[in-house]
Amino acid sequence: MVGLKDSSNSPKLTSQKLLHGHPSEQSQLIAQEGTCTSNSTQKGAAHVEPALTSTSETNEQWTKRIVNSLPAKPYYAEDGIIILNSDCREILPYLPTVDLVLTDPPYGVGVEYTQFDDTPDNVKRLVRDVVPICIQKAKRVALTCATRQITFYPPSDWILCWFNRAGAGMNPWGFTCWQPILVYGSDPYLENCMGSRPDFIEHSETSEKNGHPCPKPRKFWETLLLRCSVKESDTILDPFMGSGTTLVAAKNLGRRAIGIEIEEKYCEIAVQRLAQKVMDFSQ
Ligand SMILES: C[S@@+](CC[C@H](N)C(=O)[O-])C[C@H]1O[C@@H](n2cnc3c(N)ncnc32)[C@H](O)[C@@H]1O
Repeated sequence: MVGLKDSSNSPKLTSQKLLHGHPSEQSQLIAQEGTCTSNSTQKGAAHVEPALTSTSETNEQWTKRIVNSLPAKPYYAEDGIIILNSDCREILPYLPTVDLVLTDPPYGVGVEYTQFDDTPDNVKRLVRDVVPICIQKAKRVALTCATRQITFYPPSDWILCWFNRAGAGMNPWGFTCWQPILVYGSDPYLENCMGSRPDFIEHSETSEKNGHPCPKPRKFWETLLLRCSVKESDTILDPFMGSGTTLVAAKNLGRRAIGIEIEEKYCEIAVQRLAQKVMDFSQ
């Protein structure tokens, strides 16, 4: 079956060597544990491998199969990308297992969403209802959260860091220059004998203004997706899709994806973004 895996075999992050120091030093280091013995392990952090692929189902077949298993009509379903305009708590039980949940739940900091009252208590309840199902359904989960609310979440296998040298906002200890990214499950690079990668991502890019109150910056999100998914056959799920940054990133990187969003207006923004061709002149 394409990209859909049994999460019961999900390896846990227990035996990997965690590396410290500057990324350029880290890039010379390799995964030394587990069964990776070939030269393919001799790859550094700066090296970008082509994504691993294996697929026996077309995008059309995959889309049809997923849509047929759902209790609600999709808002959008095309070419390996599905959007559901629903409360994710009502949809998640029907979804098959996925390779990666990549998501950005509300932070409980008073953002003015149309359908969600963004208080810490509401986020606590949402996390309690949704995140354990995501961990069960996915081989790995990566989610951003507010530092203050890290304790709302189940203990993660590791915490990656989104580092923004320029800073964004203030906290009781000064300028906020980083945000946590909670990860559950194993590092896909170590699992696939592709060497060790740093556990932080530096990005100071600001988000585009697209009509959603707090979209994530697309290029940062693409970097995060590639840190958590090494196979183009991977299926990605975002239960708090917002304006669809995860879906745009997945589409740009040749992955299939499912997004769920409670507010229709944001689903429409996502559809419009998916229709745009990305012109990236920065590289
Ligand atoms: C932080 S925003 C995600 C923004 C997104 N990463 C982007 O780049 O546009 C969280 C989203 O979760 C949505 N949301 C809140 N509760 C939800 C629920 N029960 N089911 C689905 N979506 C929900 C909100 O409407 C909001 O758009």
